[in-house]
Amino acid sequence: MTNPKRYLVTAALPYANGLKHIGHLAGAYIPADIYARYLRAQKRDVVFVCGSDEHGTAIPIQATKEGTTPQAIIDKYHEAMKQDFEDLSICFDIYHRTSAPLHHETAQEFFTKLNDAGELEVKETEQYYDEEANTFLADRYIKGTCPNCGSDRAFGDQCETCGKSLSPEELINPVSTLSGKSPVKKKTSHWYLPLGKHEAFLKEWILEQHKDDWRTNVAGQCKGWIEGGLQSRAVTRDLDWGIKVPLAEGAGKVLYVWFDAPIGYISATKQWAIDNKKDWKPYWDDEDTKLVHFIGKDNIVFHCIIFPVMLKLHGNILPDNVPANEFLNLEGDKMSTSRNWKLDMRDYINDFVKKENGGGQMVDALRYYLTSIAPETKDSEFTWKGFQTAYRSELSDVFGNFVNRTFVLMHKLCEGKVPRLHTELLDDTDKTMIAAFANTKGEVQSALEYYHFRDGLFQVIELARKGNQYMQKKEPWIVAKKTATDPEAQKLIDNCIYICLQLCANLSIFINPFLPNTAAKMLHMMKVVEKMLDWENAGKTDLLKSGYSLRAPELLFRKMEDSEIELQIEKLKSGSTETKKMEPIKTLAGKPEIVYDDFAKLELKAGTVTACEKVAKADKLLKLEIDLGTEKRTIVSGIALHYKPEEMIGKQVVVVTNLASRKMKGIESQGMILTAEDADGRLQLLKPENMVMPGSSIS
Ligand code: 2FM
Ligand code: ZN
Repeated sequence: MTNPKRYLVTAALPYANGLKHIGHLAGAYIPADIYARYLRAQKRDVVFVCGSDEHGTAIPIQATKEGTTPQAIIDKYHEAMKQDFEDLSICFDIYHRTSAPLHHETAQEFFTKLNDAGELEVKETEQYYDEEANTFLADRYIKGTCPNCGSDRAFGDQCETCGKSLSPEELINPVSTLSGKSPVKKKTSHWYLPLGKHEAFLKEWILEQHKDDWRTNVAGQCKGWIEGGLQSRAVTRDLDWGIKVPLAEGAGKVLYVWFDAPIGYISATKQWAIDNKKDWKPYWDDEDTKLVHFIGKDNIVFHCIIFPVMLKLHGNILPDNVPANEFLNLEGDKMSTSRNWKLDMRDYINDFVKKENGGGQMVDALRYYLTSIAPETKDSEFTWKGFQTAYRSELSDVFGNFVNRTFVLMHKLCEGKVPRLHTELLDDTDKTMIAAFANTKGEVQSALEYYHFRDGLFQVIELARKGNQYMQKKEPWIVAKKTATDPEAQKLIDNCIYICLQLCANLSIFINPFLPNTAAKMLHMMKVVEKMLDWENAGKTDLLKSGYSLRAPELLFRKMEDSEIELQIEKLKSGSTETKKMEPIKTLAGKPEIVYDDFAKLELKAGTVTACEKVAKADKLLKLEIDLGTEKRTIVSGIALHYKPEEMIGKQVVVVTNLASRKMKGIESQGMILTAEDADGRLQLLKPENMVMPGSSIS
């Protein structure tokens, strides 16, 4: 197999509408990062791109939730996601963003080229429209019942529950997420990508050319799409937020987010090329480039069907592979942002990485576990107990322990130096151990070339396990007891430690793509430069030179306490995650979002007004006596311009009963009553629809 001239590795552009969780990390970013690091260690020409996906209805919807503007949302989450990736050692060559002018130009140019070549169709159809919000209801602006699974959490683009991709027309009982009203139908024109025209190409390319090298789950989904009949896909939307359609007749319309987002891989490459004084074109034009998209399974249709058609029409290369992962569940349930059942990257970073006793080793601990349970062929499950077990029994007890023992014994039995190798004394056990270096190189290499990251990592741990067994068999600490009487004893110790040290050096090369911080720590202990981690060095048995003195051992992986794990399980169950704790943006269009706990601090009760009079020398104030069942309260309220004292008597009102009392015009007001302002600016009392017992609590 000859290697391609260059690689372009992409990881799905995450939506800048919230923090990302470990499901995202395991699905796309960790495997992509391992692959990119491995290729770099091979000295291959590789560019690894990613960035924030900043368009689509998800952004303005989040802005409304947080009481701010779409721009403030993308700025906040772009920075937050970028930082989280950096903190978890995801080594993009560039982390770009789709709000960048370069991206807007690139996407518009792409659209124009396809349109000018007659590859897009314009169609007028009737689409759902919200008459109250005066807007068409694209994608997440409309929700209803899923025709596939019956869930009521289905949106105009996808069902939250079963993941099926949908169009608004397919929803049962659609309602606007903007006004909550049932929509009407209204005519509108849009540009469509006629996928049906490309069916023969897709069949040949995916189902024939790639039938042996694409994952079964990926090929299977594609087959389903193709055989289900490929419909034309609208590539524009009637929205304010997005990239403007670059045509006069496209006024008020933007490119569909799934049209512009994958083009983000191209604009990111362009920006990388500008920053590094390189030419971006061959990465997208030259057939000798291997393009690999790392994504989660919900993105398969876009990366395997729609984007490839766009790339082909635009004259670009096609992806060589799209190693999409299935989903990662958490403690027995699907991860979900809306239900707050998730572990955000940031939570993990704050709780483990940023803590004393954290740092790189805890970054690698997460990378290790997520790779070892990667959902490569089917959904898999993150459990905190599983995390702890993998950490203790594999990472720490097998890998960490082997390295630690080797260094301790080298200091104890070989004066802290790499001993000499006495080849004449090598036995079969030594030779088998040495042979395992090269075997593992072959195994890891072929696992990684074919995107079997889980297997690749398993091979590395197996090699460390063999190291432990080898050392156990050789027992240099026992042999050490014979050095006074047996002239060969020290030589046997030397051979064992020499081999173990070379194994450590090999292990650092093998583990580097997976756990870069661990590899860096090992380099430090071995006092060698980063260059040693080049893949070409893997399998060698003389990486550390005899006579070279090495540093004292450092624990690669600290102890993990049960209490740390129990705390996480507790946190998950009580739902106290970082998303909630993130600073709300300063409000521009309303108050910042609060959580239920904030609301629950209020004590609201229904009360009945038993007496009421005007407050002297205050036009706006009434003094009310309110019966709250078990007590009576005096409340001063600013409703005198809207209600006469006598009309108030007998009325029920909603009272905030745990508000600190305060003096108004010399009267102590022991709470507050709630009102709403009508269109004429008049205050209307809030009250229960029907009379309730005074003191009834309101929630
Ligand atoms: O599913 C998502 O999070 C999308 N933002 C992924 C986009 S990938 C690419 F096409 F940009
Ligand atoms: Zn569904």
